[in-house]
Amino acid sequence: MTMTATAQSTVLQELLEKLGPTAVLTGNNLPVRNHNDYSGMLPSRPLAVVRPSDTQGISTVMRLCNLHGIAVVPQGGLTGLCGGARAGEDQIALSMERMVGIEEIDPASATMTVRAGTPLETVQQAAADAGFFCPLDLGARGSCAIGGNLSTNAGGNRVIRYGMAREMVLGLEAVLADGTVVTSMNKMIKNNAGFDLKHLFIGSEGTLGIITRIVLKMFPKPASTMTAICAADDFETVLRLLSSARSELGPLLSAFEVMWPDYWTFATTQAPGVRNPFGHDAPPRAAYVLIEALGTDPTLDAPRFEAWLGRLLENGVIPDAAVAQSVADAGAFWGVRDACGELHTLWPRHMAFDIGLPVAAMDEYARRCKEKLAERVPGCLSVFYGHIGDGNMHIVAFLPGVATQPKDDVEEVVYELVRAYHGTVSAEHGIGTLKQRWLGHARTPEEIALMRTLKGALDPKNLLNPGKVV
Ligand code: FAD
Ligand code: LAC
Ligand code: ZN
Repeated sequence: MTMTATAQSTVLQELLEKLGPTAVLTGNNLPVRNHNDYSGMLPSRPLAVVRPSDTQGISTVMRLCNLHGIAVVPQGGLTGLCGGARAGEDQIALSMERMVGIEEIDPASATMTVRAGTPLETVQQAAADAGFFCPLDLGARGSCAIGGNLSTNAGGNRVIRYGMAREMVLGLEAVLADGTVVTSMNKMIKNNAGFDLKHLFIGSEGTLGIITRIVLKMFPKPASTMTAICAADDFETVLRLLSSARSELGPLLSAFEVMWPDYWTFATTQAPGVRNPFGHDAPPRAAYVLIEALGTDPTLDAPRFEAWLGRLLENGVIPDAAVAQSVADAGAFWGVRDACGELHTLWPRHMAFDIGLPVAAMDEYARRCKEKLAERVPGCLSVFYGHIGDGNMHIVAFLPGVATQPKDDVEEVVYELVRAYHGTVSAEHGIGTLKQRWLGHARTPEEIALMRTLKGALDPKNLLNPGKVV
C-alpha cells in the first residue's frame, strides 16, 4: 500500500470504531447523491461519506483527518450551484444529514437554536409553530440545510427586507480543521467583546470551518401578505416602481423580483403548470415585476397596498398590474418566478449565473450581454431575471444541439461585462470551484491575498474543502 492508501484505511478504520457503521459509508453503501451538488458538474465519488450525529463526532473526523492528511468536504443539502460540496475521490464527504433538529426556542430572545444539517423548511416550520417567522426562503427550501445556507450566505426572495442569511444569525458553533470546537452561541443582538468570529464561517463555503450549531434570529410572524405582478414598458418604470415601493410600502416591502421578457415568455409558455397572470392575449412588455409586502394588520394593509397600485395605474406609471386575491393567486404569481427551476429539464447542462450589478445598470447590462452573446455564440438562448431590488441578476444561457456547452465563451461575455459595470461575479451562490477563475473580476489582489492569509491561518495543511473559493 502507498502512504496515502495506508492513511486512508487507518482513518476509515478509526472512524468506524469511534462513530459506528451508520456514520461511515463506503463501497456499495455510499449513496450516489453524495457524488455531486446541484452545479451540473460531472459526478465524483468520494472516498467515503461520513455522517456524524453530533459536534463531538465532527470534531473526531476533523482531528483524525488532520492527523493523517486526508481532505474533508462538508456537505449540507447538496443544492449548491457552484461545486462547493463536490468531493474528490481521495476526499471524505462530511455529510451533515444526521446533525439535525431544533435544540431550543427562546421566545424572550426571539431566537432558535438549531443543528446545522436541519433542512431550511423544517426551520421555517418550527419558527411558525412557535408563533414566529423565519424569513430566509429559497426555491431549494425542502432540500437545502441551514448550515449550507450559512456557509453560502444564501440570499433568496426576501433579502430586500430581511437581509442575507448572515443577518439572521446571532451565534454559531464551528469545528476547525484540526478538530477544535469553537462554541460562540451568542443570543444577544449586541456583543462587541472582540472579533465577531461567526462571520469567518458565514459565506466561506466550508473552507474555514464546519458550522455545527446555530443561533438564529426569529422575526414576528406577518399577519398579512400582499402580492402583485406589475408590467412595465421600460426599465425607467421598473426603477420608479422600486423607488415608489420603498417609500410607499416602507418596511412592508419584502420582495421585488424582476423578469425580462425572454424569461417571462419562457415561464408562461414553456414551463409546465405556469399561467400568465395577465392572460395569454396580453401585449408584450419590457419587464415584469413581482412585488410582495408583509404587514401587521390585514384590515389596513391590503387596502393600502391596492390603493398604492391603483394610483400608479391611474397616473400612468405602470400599464398593467394583477393583485393576488387569494393564497392560490399568490402561489401562481410566485410560480412564474420559480419556473426557473424547470430550466434544468428544458435546457439540460445550461450555464447559470448570479451576478450583482448596480440596480440602475441592470437593463443596459442585460441588453449588452444579449448582444455580445449573439455575436460570440450564435444561436445561444438566454433569459434574465432576479432579485433586482437587491442588485442581483440571474442569467441562464444555453446553446441547443451541441454536446458541450460553450462555457468559456459565455462566461467571458458575462463576467467581462460584470467587471466593466463594477459588479460582482457572485451575488448569492458563492464561488465554489465553478467561479474561481473569475474571482479577480470582482475582488482586488489585496482582498484575495487576505482571504488566502485567513485560509492559511485556519487550515494550514489545506485539508478543509481544499481547492474551493481561493
Ligand atoms: P451544499 O450544497 O451542501 O453546500 C454548499 C457549500 O457549503 C459547500 O461549499 C459546502 O462544502 C458548504 N457546507 C455545507 N454545509 C456546511 C456546514 N455545515 N459547514 C461548513 N460548510 C458547509 N441560493 C441563494 O442564495 N438564493 C436562492 O434564491 C437560491 N435558490 C435556489 C433554488 C434552487 C432550486 C436550487 C437548487 C438552489 C438555489 N440556491 C439559491 C443555491 C443553494 O440552494 C443555496 O446556496 C443553499 O444555501 C445551499 O445549501 P445546501 O445545504 O444545499 O449546501
Ligand atoms: C433563484 C436562484 C437560482 O433566485 O438563486 O431562483
Ligand atoms: Zn437567486
